[in-house]
Amino acid sequence: MFAQLNAQPKDKILALMGAFKADPRDTKVDLGVGVYKDASGHTPVMRSVKAAERRLVGEQTTKSYVNLAGDPAFGDAMVDLVLNGAVARERVAAAATPGGTGAIRQGLELIKLAAPDATVWVSDPTWPNHESIIKYLHMPMGKYRYFDEATRGVNFDGMLADLKNIKAGDAVLLHGCCHNPTGANLTADQMAQAIEVIKAQGGMPFVDIAYQGFGDGLDADGAATRAIASAFDNVLIAASCSKNFGVYRERTGILMAVAKDEAERDIAQQNLNYLNRQNYSFPPDHGARVVTMILTDPELRADWEAELEEIRIGMLGLRKQLASELRRLSNSDRFDFLAEHRGMFSRLGTSPENVEKLRADYGIYMAGDSRMNIAGLNEDTIPVLAKAIIDAGI
Ligand code: LMR
Repeated sequence: MFAQLNAQPKDKILALMGAFKADPRDTKVDLGVGVYKDASGHTPVMRSVKAAERRLVGEQTTKSYVNLAGDPAFGDAMVDLVLNGAVARERVAAAATPGGTGAIRQGLELIKLAAPDATVWVSDPTWPNHESIIKYLHMPMGKYRYFDEATRGVNFDGMLADLKNIKAGDAVLLHGCCHNPTGANLTADQMAQAIEVIKAQGGMPFVDIAYQGFGDGLDADGAATRAIASAFDNVLIAASCSKNFGVYRERTGILMAVAKDEAERDIAQQNLNYLNRQNYSFPPDHGARVVTMILTDPELRADWEAELEEIRIGMLGLRKQLASELRRLSNSDRFDFLAEHRGMFSRLGTSPENVEKLRADYGIYMAGDSRMNIAGLNEDTIPVLAKAIIDAGI
């Protein structure tokens, strides 16, 4: 049996983690996988998460099964966090999933159940695992232009032109905030225009929101998702708690299906439950329970929001410092886009050869498409990276 298996390509982002670990240089800098790191390079457990976990261990009296869709309180808390009343709660079906990836996978499967021939449109570029899962599910995929290599901003004209090619019933994957891998984001006005085009074409948005709170703030980062949810009869939303709660390994995420009305919501909910049952039965509970406790306890929530804000402001500071160091060294404003980007990532916009040069000669690790995890920097490594970028002729 196993002799018939083909070798599988390594996931490029995850392979970087191994390569970085194996590098003996103590000057190495990890700008690879999307995991938040503090100035000392450590990924901390957030204060509120520690406190909620302690409380949970003390209070929990059973580990028995919960529901196929997970704890309803988690659904309520997350719908509130992401949608904040933008659509009536009765219209939203929700199911907990193993992380944001689980929600993406279940969302795609839901599309496949409803409309097996629907094309799923993704931004070019997008998080590589979007494309990988779509291909794995043998779903038709289309790409809309997104990144302008010259300005390192959004190629909005190209995006709108390509969205006009979608067919009624197609799904359009949009990043709710903090675009991964580029860091370039639509303005509110541009999002409103994109919504109009997708609506006119009869498309259905599928929002991936994995970095709420890492861009312009918890509330501001939800604005695009809310605008989308309130503009359509049907919307899918995959939300991750991995980054903004720092619970990466607990696999905590949720898929929401905004339906036309309550009756349609019930059917959507049955399908979400069914898909969970087919794929893994009950979703992981620990992270979801911790998140629920934080979101519903005023003291824990205030502390979580404060720490998340510290993280966001810290990353913004790193962006500004890097852009200003590059401005000084290059005597130009061609790297100012780094301060404009939002979220954990920025695409530097250089060739795979230069990315490899930065790794080999300077021990700087970034994804092959020149995506940098800004949180991997600190005050000491910013000048090192800036100098390497200039020395490498980027
Ligand atoms: C990333 O983009 O680096 C993260 O979302 C981690 C992952 O699973 O790829």
